[in-house]
Amino acid sequence: MKIQPSDAPLLEWAGDSLAIGLFEDAVELTGELATLDQKFAGVLKELIAEEEFKGKANSTIFTRVGTGSGVRKVIVVGLGKPEALKLDTLRRTAAAVARVGKKQKSKILGLSFPLWNNDPDASAQAIAEGVELALYQDVRFKSEPEDKGTQLETVELLGFAGQEAAINRAHQIVSGVILARQLVAAPANAVTPITLAETAQAIANEHGLQLEILEREDCEKLGMGAFLGVAQASDLPPKFIHLTYKPEGTPKKKLAIIGKGLTFDSGGLNIKGAGSGIETMKIDMGGAAATLGAAKAIAQIKPDSEVHFISAATENMISGRAMHPGDILTASNGKTIEVNNTDAEGRLTLADALVYADKLGLDAIVDLATLTGANVIALGDDIAGLYTPDDAVASQLEKAAQTSGEKIWRMPMEEKYFEGLKSGIADMKNTGPRPGGAITAALFLKEFVKETPWAHLDIAGPVWTDKENGYNSAGATGYGVRTLVDWVLGIGE
Ligand code: BES
Ligand code: MN
Ligand code: ZN
Repeated sequence: MKIQPSDAPLLEWAGDSLAIGLFEDAVELTGELATLDQKFAGVLKELIAEEEFKGKANSTIFTRVGTGSGVRKVIVVGLGKPEALKLDTLRRTAAAVARVGKKQKSKILGLSFPLWNNDPDASAQAIAEGVELALYQDVRFKSEPEDKGTQLETVELLGFAGQEAAINRAHQIVSGVILARQLVAAPANAVTPITLAETAQAIANEHGLQLEILEREDCEKLGMGAFLGVAQASDLPPKFIHLTYKPEGTPKKKLAIIGKGLTFDSGGLNIKGAGSGIETMKIDMGGAAATLGAAKAIAQIKPDSEVHFISAATENMISGRAMHPGDILTASNGKTIEVNNTDAEGRLTLADALVYADKLGLDAIVDLATLTGANVIALGDDIAGLYTPDDAVASQLEKAAQTSGEKIWRMPMEEKYFEGLKSGIADMKNTGPRPGGAITAALFLKEFVKETPWAHLDIAGPVWTDKENGYNSAGATGYGVRTLVDWVLGIGE
């Protein structure tokens, strides 16, 4: 499938399906649209009246057009109120239209959408992202392809002549999102810490990034007792992944993106019980997946900041070698941790990754982690929690999330709650009381960053969607990649 600009005027465009975006106040069809309606023998006006179409955002109607007009079907899609138009409205609307066009067995689909904010670049990019994200289907684990029929071949963006670069940018970003979706969707017997390291290697080879993989012994030398404590029961070797993108010339900023990389979280000896969703815990490397997805996109876009992509990858398993609940681990900054719950393992792996990144002399660190069920209770499935003591990094990430349409919400770093992590025997426990559990998790992480502005995103909710949601099909969303890319690009400005 190819997305391309079209310089054909609306009235002359020919293809299988033509989609027209209409604002709430424009369903009366004036000017060019009235002429188009005449060309279609009044079918547009009839359709709008019959379906009582009001132009509400996300409402989609369509009908067949008489032969001879050069168009087989016309799709009318609502954009809501013009003053409320967001970039993400274009992305979602494009996604909805692409799905309809595909169902209609269109080979050539035309999109006639307005500009957001008079910005053809951002608009073309968002529309192309929506189309590509919505059409992606994961058939890797099916023995037979499911839809063998007509495939969408070309999507043409009317009125976007000359926007090849924006469409290409969308494609680069989406390639990262799809990588992240594939990594998250693949089960724990397909994606292991070794697979994650191999994926980082493939990105490094393809795009000329530097890669360092620290094996268990290397991590031992660095004193990464927290990470290795989690890894010790697995039969698979842990892999500490450090991929680096360096721009030509002096980097504007030096950044790190760290992802929680638990390729399976059984809970350890505090094993996840019935109803805990243990069978979904392949998703616990969603942070690492977003990190590698962002690496793939950034390696193609080549921004002028240096970016370190880091994940301490392992499984959290049980065996005779497993950590005991109550064990005391020493992290690489010398802090001791009483593991009062082996299921709070993500923060242990992140602790050593944060200490490592903090020593690289960077301008900012962002970590992403499917860290707590408590964050899902607080914010639901669609919104990531943003935790940071740094207002500047917070607003950078909020701005990037806004552009990308990925929802984040800043949560408080209530210092007093650290009392819940106090240990009688070690420097701290890894788990506090249930109330405020996502906040204490963030406060735990903060103990391992001393030098660098840092933010943590708890993505336990949005990493996955049970049903189709905007441009996401049911399943892995690739959440985080687009916000991260936008953050890195924006920070160099
Ligand atoms: N990986 C889980 C968090 C999670 C829960 C991710 C639901 C995605 C969906 C994490 O390692 C975990 O088990 N957290 C515990 C922490 C508790 C033991 C303090 C939790 O949230 O219950
Ligand atoms: Mn856990
Ligand atoms: Zn986990």
